Amino acid sequence: MTSKNEQVFAFALAAALLVVGVVCYAAFPPKAPEEPVRIMFKTTAGKVFFDHKTHSSDAGYGVGCTDCHHEGEEPVACSECHDPESEVKRSDAIHTQCKGCHEEGEAGPVKCSACHVM
Ligand code: HEC
Ligand code: HEC
Ligand code: HEC
Ligand code: HEC
Repeated sequence: MTSKNEQVFAFALAAALLVVGVVCYAAFPPKAPEEPVRIMFKTTAGKVFFDHKTHSSDAGYGVGCTDCHHEGEEPVACSECHDPESEVKRSDAIHTQCKGCHEEGEAGPVKCSACHVM
């Protein structure tokens, strides 16, 4: 190859790699944290099993994301706001929400031992 051809080749290669890079970046955009399937809360009153996916899916109980993740741009851990310094502590926030909905909707466990099973 002449040096002119080498230059053209190098340029074409760089352009091709750039295209590959852009396509890969677009195909895998940075994602919000995955929606959990199940969550096991370890508490002083025993473990609580929470089927996150069944609560939120239309095939399950069909509860909207924002009904539980009630503040903020997108769903994040409750502790992002309900930290030890906040007015409503994380465990109180979660506890109140779980029991509150079950009581209001008259569906889902409200007795301690029905949630704190282990
Ligand atoms: C019935 C209430 C409820 C519904 C409905 C719900 N979530 Fe959650 N979600 C929770 C709880 C409780 C947690 C645990 C938060 C914690 O540990 O602080 C959680 C955790 C998460 C987390 C993990 C956050 C982290 O950083 O640990 C994501 C992501 C999430 N939910 C997304 C979603 C999306 C998306 C939907 C709708 C498709 C949804 N949630 C519906 C209650 C709910
Ligand atoms: C972006 C911030 C933010 C996030 C994330 C958040 N909350 Fe809250 N939440 C608040 C604010 C603000 C209040 C009003 C009370 C206060 O200032 O602490 C509140 C109040 C509540 C209350 C009412 C408490 C009462 O006694 O009146 C419940 C229940 C609650 N949150 C549950 C949750 C649950 C469960 C999650 C996670 C699934 C969550 N919150 C995530 C900001 C947030
Ligand atoms: C709808 C389900 C549900 C019911 C009903 C329920 N709990 Fe809980 N409870 C939870 C969850 C979820 C947590 C975990 C909160 C966390 O991880 O911060 C919890 C946490 C607790 C904690 C730990 C709080 C802390 O600060 O560590 C105690 C104690 C507790 N529950 C007692 C009870 C008692 C007593 C009853 C009955 C009067 C009851 N729970 C009914 C779901 C429930
Ligand atoms: C906005 C409403 C809502 C909230 C919030 C909610 N639930 Fe439920 N939950 C339901 C409904 C509806 C059912 C289905 C009851 C039925 O079909 O008998 C249910 C059922 C359940 C059951 C029994 C069946 C199963 O899926 O295992 C458990 C345990 C349970 N919920 C735990 C929790 C816990 C723990 C939380 C808080 C982290 C929570 N729920 C928050 C609406 C809610």
